[in-house]
Amino acid sequence: MIKATICLGLLISYYSVNSEIISKGLNSTYVPDWWQTSIIYQVYVRSFKDSNGDGIGDLIGLTQKTDYFKNLGVGAIWLSPIFQSPQLDFGYDISNYKEIDKSYGSLADFDRLLIEFHKAGIKVILDFVPNHTSDEHEWFIKSVKKIAPFTDFYVWKDPVIKDGERHPPNNWLSVFNSGSAWEWNEERQQYYLHQFLVKQPDLNYRCPTVVEDIKNTLSFWLGRGVDGFRFDATNYLFEREDLLDEPKSGKPDYEDTDYDSLNHIHTLDQPETYDMVRVWREYLEKYAEIKQEPFTKFIMVECYSPFDKTMMYYGTPSAPAAHFPFNFQFIGKFNHQSNAHDLRDVVVSWIRNMPEGMWPNWVLGNHDNSRIASRLDPMLVDGLHMIQLLLPGTAVTYYADELGVEDTYVRWDQTIDTAGLNVGPRRYEKFSRDPARSPFPWDDSINAGFSNGSKVWLPINPRYWRDNMMAQTKFKSHLKTYKQLARLRQSPTFVRGDLHVYAFSKWVFGFSRSYYDHPTYFVIINLGSEMETINLLNARNTLPDILKVKISSINSGYVTGNLLHSEYITMRPKTALVLTTSRINEDNY
Ligand code: GLC
Ligand code: CA
Repeated sequence: MIKATICLGLLISYYSVNSEIISKGLNSTYVPDWWQTSIIYQVYVRSFKDSNGDGIGDLIGLTQKTDYFKNLGVGAIWLSPIFQSPQLDFGYDISNYKEIDKSYGSLADFDRLLIEFHKAGIKVILDFVPNHTSDEHEWFIKSVKKIAPFTDFYVWKDPVIKDGERHPPNNWLSVFNSGSAWEWNEERQQYYLHQFLVKQPDLNYRCPTVVEDIKNTLSFWLGRGVDGFRFDATNYLFEREDLLDEPKSGKPDYEDTDYDSLNHIHTLDQPETYDMVRVWREYLEKYAEIKQEPFTKFIMVECYSPFDKTMMYYGTPSAPAAHFPFNFQFIGKFNHQSNAHDLRDVVVSWIRNMPEGMWPNWVLGNHDNSRIASRLDPMLVDGLHMIQLLLPGTAVTYYADELGVEDTYVRWDQTIDTAGLNVGPRRYEKFSRDPARSPFPWDDSINAGFSNGSKVWLPINPRYWRDNMMAQTKFKSHLKTYKQLARLRQSPTFVRGDLHVYAFSKWVFGFSRSYYDHPTYFVIINLGSEMETINLLNARNTLPDILKVKISSINSGYVTGNLLHSEYITMRPKTALVLTTSRINEDNY
């Protein structure tokens, strides 16, 4: 394990009104690990590529696309859940942790996938769901019957009897169900906790056998060769043992049965949860050591938690937990109203608040949220990718965001996400996650080249005839911008260089990266609706008079190679540029 310190966020100084140094870059002795320099690409397997015409993406289909990732410049893929599941929450309800779901293929298909991706130099990360299983899991079936050692595998509690009537043990609410997080089980005559669907009972991490069995399943997949895990819904692992009621959140626009109507101080981010992540990290490190694995086994965790609590999932330098918790600030804190100062805060706050020696990451989207092109202006996609791929840190990309794909409208009668179904036709649009999960548009052929079947599991985006991967190889496109950025990201300036940020005006944000005598790069993005003219010499008077356009957003009016005066850079609304001090392609990226 590399234990050198990274000098991110250590030095703060100002050399002009609106410019700050945020990071000095890497120590010269520090060797960044694979998960730090890589782009991690989230594949929603169900929607990526269908090989057998049943309208559902699968492992064979995904394996056929290995070259796509290689050309894109992706270092690791994270597969949304592929284990055996009744698919009530599309794999986040697991009925067997050691089997591949039939709709995705077999263990043999998985082994082949791993071989092919590893051959291409691409790591494979699995989505792992530790908080709950499906109620169809053998563990739960046996737990209901109190068969040892499964009796306490789940969170079982007696009812509260008031006026001769049975009530749940407390007021806790479930995320998806609009109502209690407790479900009565007739057979066992007790309630069980399900923070998500009724069919997703929470495991009881206070039961040591659960902890052991989860470790065993991790070893099972490590043994097959996986490179790491994305731990799902990690902040839900433990709940307060004394079952105190949760207070009201006071958030407007929520009904009393809505999850967000309560403040989840007793069911999220409990102290034992951080310890558990640390235990997994140690377990993976031990595993790698004993098996003399050539590469680090990696952990990233999902938690939509308050900022300070999120940071605690990093652990500390002497007791590290996750390699990182996802940075969801671009999802939670950045929107149509955001200006350059807001963007600066998003960038700077993460880097400055990480515990010492930790590594940042940048997430623009995932399968639980509206797509980046729909949440923000589709024209900003290139600029946001510049930020995501060129800041220090790991970039996590949701499939098809590299094409700037937008959400697909899904009617009520087509809705299949239970988070939408459970709230009914009046409110489903606010909760359903179907629109962000539509099949990957490969080309303009039938079903966008995703499937040759007669039916697909979710509607294809109707803009696929124009907005598809193949088309984007033929003209200046989001895909081409993304590929250029993925390549440039590998250059020494971006792997190791320092970071300065600038707010040029209310709407124009920028940052620069420098590394010794390598070219310096400037990234500038105009979030506003007006044309802006920027003077870079004001921000940094040591710059040359002329800068070269290295990469430009599709709407910018510039092309690679254009020469611009540093004092006078005009930017159309919602455009972005990567500029370099080098007139020639010194870095060869
Ligand atoms: C996570 C997943 C989400 C899932 C939930 C329950 O938030 O990302 O898709 O529904 O956990 O497992
Ligand atoms: Ca299929």
